[in-house]
Amino acid sequence: MASHKIVLLSGDGIGPEITRVTKEILQVITEKHKLSVAFVEKPFGGKAIELSDTPLPEETLQACKNSDAILLAAIGDPKYDDFPREKRPETGLLKLRSELELFSNIRPVKIREALIDSSSLKKEIVNNVDLIVVRELTGGIYFGQPKGRIISEEGGERAFNTMTYSSDEIDRISKIAFELARERRQKVCSIDKANVLDVSQLWRERVNKISDQYKNIALSHQYVDNAAMQLIREPRQFDVILTSNLFGDIISDEAAMLTGSIGMLPSASLGLHNPGLFEPVHGSAPDIAGKDLANPIAMILSAAMMLRIALKETDAAKNIENAIDKALEKGFRTIDLKSDSSQKLCGCREMGQRIIAEI
Ligand code: IPM
Ligand code: MN
Repeated sequence: MASHKIVLLSGDGIGPEITRVTKEILQVITEKHKLSVAFVEKPFGGKAIELSDTPLPEETLQACKNSDAILLAAIGDPKYDDFPREKRPETGLLKLRSELELFSNIRPVKIREALIDSSSLKKEIVNNVDLIVVRELTGGIYFGQPKGRIISEEGGERAFNTMTYSSDEIDRISKIAFELARERRQKVCSIDKANVLDVSQLWRERVNKISDQYKNIALSHQYVDNAAMQLIREPRQFDVILTSNLFGDIISDEAAMLTGSIGMLPSASLGLHNPGLFEPVHGSAPDIAGKDLANPIAMILSAAMMLRIALKETDAAKNIENAIDKALEKGFRTIDLKSDSSQKLCGCREMGQRIIAEI
């Protein structure tokens, strides 16, 4: 039995508590499915800044490169807001994504039946929503050069970033979206701002070009402002959403709310040559950290994605997802999900136990 090596990055804020719960669930599931898994925990984000003055220590990066998969909770804390950019937790995450060339970020948005009343939108609107955001993750305005701050000639300060994409970068992420659509409902909607931005114009041209190779997939384009509106107006129109780094960041938080809480959304960041990184879409929520209030489900669903995609353990992944549904059907809710008084409020730890009971 081959042993899978998983690097756990528990990070900051609610990170350690949701990691504890997720690890416990993984231990139960690996025992049940007779998998051999070794966990390696490494410092990352704010925690790593405290320990070694950098958010992504070399040792953590090497461990990630030598693993079968990386499972990350969340990073970030307001106490680093005034630190120089290279000493901020977010910079560590961007560096990890870019060092591992994880250019494709897959964010599935699926409404779980039991949570239909938790969404801030009407039931009729969110019912049966099942879409995937494919976000380009190692290019665009997050990484574009030049960027920085200068003293402008008029005396004040000026700051700037560059939104840039090469045709190769657009082509490879487009292919990921079309391939995914092939296994689903054969629809790709590409989101850009081609009415204003040159970079979006190239984006649109390349996506159209790639679509020639996928004759059975229906391609549409939306401007990002319209897409933000369409996601709330009629989310069921979307199957696979293909978009750039910044637009994908924004659109996926918005899409998360369809499911009732951002605490429900997992993600996978994948490349071609390195292990994948699996992480919840939400942040480190420092305001509720250490209070046993966090919803661990997004991280647990990320662990399920990891089992399915990186370890090819489909049954184990399904087992986790079903257990989550059952716990929710029995009415257990963390505070972010509670929508009426008949539901049973539980903390992070108890939610983990309720899910384990269903495995
Ligand atoms: C995300 C996060 C990150 C991003 C931050 C923490 C750097 O918001 O994964 O969506 O902007 O990509
Ligand atoms: Mn984000």
